[in-house]
Amino acid sequence: MGRLQDRVAIITGAASAAGIGCAIALLFSEEGTAVTVADIDDAGGRHTTEMIRKRGGRALFCHTDISDSKDVKEMVRATVASFGGIHVLVNNAAHMKDTKPALETTEEEWNRSLAVTLKGAFLCSKHVIPEMIRAGVGSIINISSVGGLVGFEGYAAYCSAKGGILQLTKSLAIDYGRQNIRANAICPGPIQTGISPRPDDPLYQYQLEMTVLGRKGKPQEVAYTALFLACEESSFVTGASLVVDGGWTVR
Ligand SMILES: NC(=O)c1ccc[n+]([C@@H]2O[C@H](COP(=O)([O-])OP(=O)(O)OC[C@H]3O[C@@H](n4cnc5c(N)ncnc54)[C@H](O)[C@@H]3O)[C@@H](O)[C@H]2O)c1
Repeated sequence: MGRLQDRVAIITGAASAAGIGCAIALLFSEEGTAVTVADIDDAGGRHTTEMIRKRGGRALFCHTDISDSKDVKEMVRATVASFGGIHVLVNNAAHMKDTKPALETTEEEWNRSLAVTLKGAFLCSKHVIPEMIRAGVGSIINISSVGGLVGFEGYAAYCSAKGGILQLTKSLAIDYGRQNIRANAICPGPIQTGISPRPDDPLYQYQLEMTVLGRKGKPQEVAYTALFLACEESSFVTGASLVVDGGWTVR
């Protein structure tokens, strides 16, 4: 029996094989969960679902731009039609382009960043929560960042959206706790994924130095934290932000 046996989870932004969302999708599936992968990257999203099916799991890919409520509603409908309900939502997708200081950020770039990273998490939560209420249980896991806790040079819109996600998490925890729905956030530090600097990039060295463990994290290390928040072992944890940063924010 897996820790999340017969549960149904939606994981946004799980298309990249080297990414955090994909690691969460694979781990949840190993623990018995049916998984919907919601992403704008069709080829990558299908690849994630194929990997899950080859390992004997149940998975569905839904092309979803999380900033578009029509796409989000259809993704929820398709998940319920395929798997019968929804118990876990991982808001992992984010807009990570156009990272700039405020003066260089155009209004369009600001709007797109906030629309995907913050509004997207709101829309997915808004349309999934009624299904969780129907199921009588729910866990929402919002992937923020240490950039939601401290400032990053040149990341005005991203840090604003990631800070907003922490407040959204608390609001959801307060508003739906009585319906047995928990909402928590994870703040990863530097995790080596497809979008991360490579070892020959000076930024890579800087990231190593910023952690007290002296290394970068692996997507699986975030996935195990998400698994804890998704399952019964964390049943009294809500409104929390778990920092998974190798000690980046300790000093
Ligand atoms: N890698 C890190 O060091 C790090 C650190 C802190 C936080 N995070 C957060 O972890 C999450 C995953 O990041 P990652 O490093 O695995 O990168 P990633 O590129 O693998 O994940 C982002 C995914 O979001 C998808 N996406 C982008 N816009 C979308 C949209 N409008 N609708 C649906 N999907 C969309 C992308 O296609 C991609 O699959 C992000 O929220 C990121 O901010 C990452």
